[in-house]
Parts: sequence; structure tokens; C-alpha cells
Amino acid sequence: MPLDGVKNIVLVLSGKGGVGKSSVTLQLALALSLQGKSVGILDIDLTGPSIPRLVGLEGAKITQSPGGWLPVAVHDAAQPTDATSSSSSHPRGSLRCMSLGFLLRDRGDAVIWRGPKKTAMIRQFLSDVAWGLTDYLLIDTPPGTSDEHIALAEQLLTLSTADAALAAQNNMPRLTGAVLVTTPQAVATSDVRKEANFCVKTSIPVLGVIENMSGYACPCCGEVSNLFSSGGGEVMAQQLSIPFLGKVPVDVKFGELVEGKMEPASDDEDEEEEDEGKEAQPPAEPDLRPLVERYKDGWSYPRFEDFAKTIIGGVQHTDRTS
Ligand SMILES: Nc1ncnc2c1ncn2[C@@H]1O[C@H](COP(=O)(O)OP(=O)(O)O)[C@@H](O)[C@H]1O
Ligand SMILES: [Mg+2]
Repeated sequence: MPLDGVKNIVLVLSGKGGVGKSSVTLQLALALSLQGKSVGILDIDLTGPSIPRLVGLEGAKITQSPGGWLPVAVHDAAQPTDATSSSSSHPRGSLRCMSLGFLLRDRGDAVIWRGPKKTAMIRQFLSDVAWGLTDYLLIDTPPGTSDEHIALAEQLLTLSTADAALAAQNNMPRLTGAVLVTTPQAVATSDVRKEANFCVKTSIPVLGVIENMSGYACPCCGEVSNLFSSGGGEVMAQQLSIPFLGKVPVDVKFGELVEGKMEPASDDEDEEEEDEGKEAQPPAEPDLRPLVERYKDGWSYPRFEDFAKTIIGGVQHTDRTS
């Protein structure tokens, strides 16, 4: 049964590339995981699958199981340890992801794909991945409202339902809705409007708009200054009568976290077993902790914690099975 074990599906949409859709997907995933939810990310941006890079697992490979492709683990579920229990009361949910990037040898391969092949791949992604028990499956989509989106929407509407009661009754995933990502600049092109229209046409509920790269968070203190215009996403959301989830400033530290600035000398994985004397002493670098733990300490997490709680709250509001 496709999507067996998946409880909620959230789409992340944007009209343009480069507005931070994949970053928002990842941060929502990390924040939901920190709320104790088991999370999956399905990256169907076939022309630019960026999730493997953002989670620092570009070299990972997908394996087959009798139940389908196994997603790649970013981190496992964990109970709060004694050392950190003072700050984190929640157990952590697992995070796993699936991306075409894991299946390609060369990222350039995707670019030459034609529509039907893309559509077939998306179908396969939705039906052939063995997610197992997953509270939230976040889908990172390509920019715009292309053939891939229509294929995705059609497929999703046969595998899931936006009706919470029906989903529970039929033991199928709930199509919880779409998060629309924009930037202060992109708002001017009314891309949110197009995405919102797409949702109306395909009967996918809109969870709300996130205005990314709205202002600038000081790397030292986190204080946000509005270097650029900001607030256009909120106005647009009001005009369209859809919820505004909030603004996310440019966070240089988050950029560094996902773009891998921490280990300048190790972009090559040589298997050298020569240096015997050094292997017993772990480097005293704090950034060897899992991505999710490093993320939790950043300026952006509190915002995404709120978004995650909003999504969870909205879900539980109509879902009585916890
Ligand atoms: N709020 C943010 N603060 C800092 N960097 C960001 C932020 N949002 C996105 N980025 C960076 O901008 C680039 C593009 O973001 P990405 O999520 O890949 O966009 P998209 O998926 O919409 O094409 C990435 O390098 C990402 O790390
Ligand atoms: Mg992307």
C-alpha cells in the first residue's frame, strides 16, 4: 500500500526557485522532529534536488527492501538524554529523506528529462518508498506550478484525502495542506497568488504563507533588521484570505549550517587507514553533533518551532486520534 504508515502530508510550494523552499522544508522537518514527530522529506524537485546537499548526505545511496525503496536516515528518534534534558523535554522524532539526488550519479542527469519521464518518476516516488510510521511527510516541490505539480496533485488525491475524518476512517494519509514560500522580492510577481490558485484548483488546503529572507538576522545576537522590504507576503496573504505563518529573516548561520562551512579540509572522503595514532581522539568540535542538534541552537529555530506547532495544532484540531 503506497504511503503506508504516513499520517500527514504537507506540500511546500513556491512560484520561483531560490526563495528558500528546500530550506524551509528542511527547517520545518527539523522543527517537527524536535516536537517529537517522525518526519520524512520527499524531494521531488527533479531538476534541482537539493535536499541531499542540505542535509549533508550527498553521497548516500538508496537501498531496496521488499517493501520498496528505503529512505535515507538523517537522524534517528531519540529520548532526551540526561545531559540535555534540562533544555529539551521532548523526545526527538526521526528524520528520513528521499530524493532523486540519491539515485543519480550525476546531478546533471535530471535536467534532460522530459515531462512523461518526470511524471513517471514522481508516481514512483509516491508509491514505491517504504516510509514506515511517519507523522509528517513533507514534499519539497519544484518551483512554479508545472506538469510535475499536476502529476503530484493528481497522484496525491488518489492516495490521500484532505478530509481528516475520511483519512482516519480509511486509514490513509491526510493531505494536511500546502505551505507557500515567498520572499519580499518574489511577492511583487504575485507568485503566491498563482500557488494559491493552484491549491484551490487541486483542492489542496493552504496551511499558510511563509515570507523567507525577510530582513536580516544579526549573526551575533539574532536581532533582525529590515535591509530589504518586508511584509509583502503578509499583505498578499491577507488579500487572498489565507493564513500568514510568519517571516523568516536571512540567517547567515543557517546558511553555513547547511552549506557545510564547518570542515574546510574534508570535502574529500579518502579512506586512509594509515594514521593509526590519531583515531582514538575525537576532535573537540561542537559541530559534529547531528544537524538537528546544531540547528536547535540557531536563531531560526524558534520561528520554525512556532510554524511546527501551528501545523501540529491545526492537525490535532480536527484529528482526535492524538
Ligand atoms: N532564511 C535563510 N537564511 C539564510 N540562507 C537561506 C535562507 N533561506 C534560504 N537560504 C539559502 O538560499 C539558497 C537557496 O535556498 P533553497 O532553499 O535551495 O531555495 P529553493 O529550494 O527555493 O530553490 C540556499 O543556499 C539556502 O541555504
Ligand atoms: Mg529547492
